[in-house]
Amino acid sequence: MERTIDGELLNIPQHVAIIMDGNGRWARQHHRPRTFGHKKGAAIVEQICDDAWELGIKYLTLYAFSTENWKRPADEVTTLMGLFHQYLVSYLDRMMKQNIRIRIIGDRRGLSQQILDDIERDERESAGNTGLQFNIALNYGSRDEMIRAMQKMAADGHTKPEEITPELFSSYLDTAGMPDPDLLIRTSGEQRISNYLLWQIAYSELYFTPVLWPDFNRDVLLDAIRAYSKRDRRFGGV
Ligand code: IPE
Ligand code: IPE
Ligand code: MG
Repeated sequence: MERTIDGELLNIPQHVAIIMDGNGRWARQHHRPRTFGHKKGAAIVEQICDDAWELGIKYLTLYAFSTENWKRPADEVTTLMGLFHQYLVSYLDRMMKQNIRIRIIGDRRGLSQQILDDIERDERESAGNTGLQFNIALNYGSRDEMIRAMQKMAADGHTKPEEITPELFSSYLDTAGMPDPDLLIRTSGEQRISNYLLWQIAYSELYFTPVLWPDFNRDVLLDAIRAYSKRDRRFGGV
């Protein structure tokens, strides 16, 4: 979708996925424990949702906790889970006011009953909202998602080779029914995917910024969209 933003004609991606990285380094820069970075990182998410919607983005998918992040020290994992709970409780009011629909992708097994209840409530309450389609990847790993999808397919009796199509497989992923990301942003300067949306980003444009997640804001998002606007997406054609 083309749109003029701050006097500039830009091509706005429909779906933006973000690997929110760099909370720990941000905390170290501020001589504080890593958990301080996670708190700041969680606190900016509401504003980023508003900015994304205001810029014309329809789907926003944020990577909050990977299937590999359980390897971190127990106290850091506990803090993160506490923040997810706090967030899923406190954000609901605002989501309802702003017409935001939230969905959580990832493996629900392994999450606490409290967080499962939060997810169930927020998804149910916001299911009819037609504004920003906001996804949080929680206990998410792309390989895990694909294995779960294949297991569910087999359990549903889809075992004949000729039945297995990209469309059927996509419909068993956690992102079923959503368009693929047009733009994938990773903060903190790392240039890797870390097991995020491997199937879905087959033709996404990639944007890496050195900005640490807690410092992310509308200007950085706009820079990413500017870069995206200049890309020539060919999808294998000419
Ligand atoms: C991203 O920040 C948040 C999560 C992965 C939960 P990090 O905690 O990975 O921050 P760095 O990479 O150590 O700076
Ligand atoms: C990716 O960040 C996961 C999330 C942002 C939730 P990591 O910090 O865990 O990734 P690696 O370990 O640097 O690849
Ligand atoms: Mg990191």
